[in-house]
Amino acid sequence: MALGLAVDVDGLSRRFGSIEAVSGVTFQVPQGELFGIVGPDGAGKTTTLRMLAGVLRPTTGDARIADVSVARDPEGVKRHIAYMSQRFGLYGDLTVRENIEFYADLFLVSKTDRPKRLERLYGFSGLGPFEHRLAGQLSGGMKQKLGLCCALIHEPDIMLLDEPTFGVDPISRRDLWLIVHDMVATGITVLVATAYLDEAERCDRVALLHDGRLIALDTPDALQQRLSGRIRSVRADDPRRARHFLDRHQAVTQAVLFGDVIHATVEHVDRDWPRVLRDVAAAGIAIHEEESAEPTLEDAFIDLVRASDRHAD
Ligand SMILES: Nc1ncnc2c1ncn2[C@@H]1O[C@H](COP(=O)(O)OP(=O)(O)OP(=O)(O)O)[C@@H](O)[C@H]1O
Ligand SMILES: [Mg+2]
Repeated sequence: MALGLAVDVDGLSRRFGSIEAVSGVTFQVPQGELFGIVGPDGAGKTTTLRMLAGVLRPTTGDARIADVSVARDPEGVKRHIAYMSQRFGLYGDLTVRENIEFYADLFLVSKTDRPKRLERLYGFSGLGPFEHRLAGQLSGGMKQKLGLCCALIHEPDIMLLDEPTFGVDPISRRDLWLIVHDMVATGITVLVATAYLDEAERCDRVALLHDGRLIALDTPDALQQRLSGRIRSVRADDPRRARHFLDRHQAVTQAVLFGDVIHATVEHVDRDWPRVLRDVAAAGIAIHEEESAEPTLEDAFIDLVRASDRHAD
């Protein structure tokens, strides 16, 4: 393992029958990084995390977690990681405290270490006052926090989180991210799969998966800057019709609606945009405002996914 690497993924692939769920994925994550994995439904995020967690065998390729091979020693990997799956197993008829103790037993955490760790986790999560409440009676957000506490009780080096805030209200979502940032501040490496791009923006680097393949990997800033100067923001009387027209225009890579504002990505703005505007007017579509706009991460991801689809055709 190169010095300071927490995760070293090399050609990782997994096939289910005829479906190549993950295909030749390669990336490295240095210790202490907050690393995001994003991608549309079915992109292979969960399959990737399950292989990294040592619970699913790769068909080919390998990943080293804290220098332990997931292909050769999946049990050894589990000592180093905490894995919070999309459906993390909590016991609804046990209390908050009893759930954490259950996972402490499972991971053989010594009785002497427990009070200190519990105190720290209660500090992170704010669950202390609820320690005698049954897990089944917690709100969705609190259940997710308890899931994190259970996963963290054995003080892992590396945390694998699969959509930890899925279906959680915005306040609890922010709380959960505060916990994640606290964990990263203590030196834990975090890999987090998320469908929310505002969460991806919080990551040091983001991997974009599509159809099982890694199609981009960079900082959120760098991903957005790829489109710098190529986004025109457009307001039209009939935004849906205008978007449809722009999206199909040969000089426009894509047109996406954000609320009632259209973001059109144009490869050669100086050369092509005046012509696009003339064509829009000729089609009888009224535009009452248009200007250059900063690309969002969503613009960047849609562009990357479409470019990847064009290559696949
Ligand atoms: N156990 C399995 N058996 C068969 N196919 C599977 C299995 N697990 C995943 N797949 C398929 O592999 C592909 C990748 O699925 P995966 O769950 O990894 O995607 P994901 O990016 O996590 O999606 P989501 O955003 O919906 O959670 C999908 O086509 C899925 O149907
Ligand atoms: Mg998933």
